[in-house]
Amino acid sequence: MTEGTTTLPGPPSDASEPDLARRRMLTAATAAVGVVGVGLAATAFVETMEPSETARALGAPVIIDISKLKPKEMLVASWRRRPIYVLRRTEAELKQLPSINGQLKDPLSKADQQPANLPGWNPIQRSIVPEYLVVVGICTHLGCMPKLHAQVGDPLLGASWPGGYYCPCHGSRYDLSGRVMDGSPAPLNLPVPPHYYRDATTIVAGELANRTEQNWEPNTW
Ligand code: FES
Repeated sequence: MTEGTTTLPGPPSDASEPDLARRRMLTAATAAVGVVGVGLAATAFVETMEPSETARALGAPVIIDISKLKPKEMLVASWRRRPIYVLRRTEAELKQLPSINGQLKDPLSKADQQPANLPGWNPIQRSIVPEYLVVVGICTHLGCMPKLHAQVGDPLLGASWPGGYYCPCHGSRYDLSGRVMDGSPAPLNLPVPPHYYRDATTIVAGELANRTEQNWEPNTW
């Protein structure tokens, strides 16, 4: 681990190795109520416009209204029954991202955790519009939903915490770009789904503007 980082809290001492089938079931259940769970922790609620449940299950793109999303707020949409986090970052948060590259497993997003040729892609900000992070909110370790802890030095995570996501299941940590930190059991950054901006306040997640990448599947666990 890089000097200056905090030690990851391990799983509870009485925790047994998670059973994958059970974990899948829990993840599905958690995703269904993801807006509530994440919202209670650290985010504000923002309405999203989404297709019908049937269309969603078939993989239809989801339309996300970000017009009411304020800096430091996050909303949770659903795409293919997976939670999609949309986080609005501040200028200061974006500026500090390169400074923690040395604490990360894949600081330049070299792993295949986003579609190729995302127009405007920045591998450190992991976004196509800098202030908005759009990621699949599923931990790449065993599939729990990481929680947003945007505050630098969050008391739960220690003075050197730069702000980011913390997975409560086994302690994986991600920065505010969804880049996984050294020492985390998760191997990969949070996936960035195919998406584009229909206008300044509307994101379409699930395809690119030219209707490609509709079959893209995230690497989660
Ligand atoms: S599921 Fe194990 S750290 Fe997230």
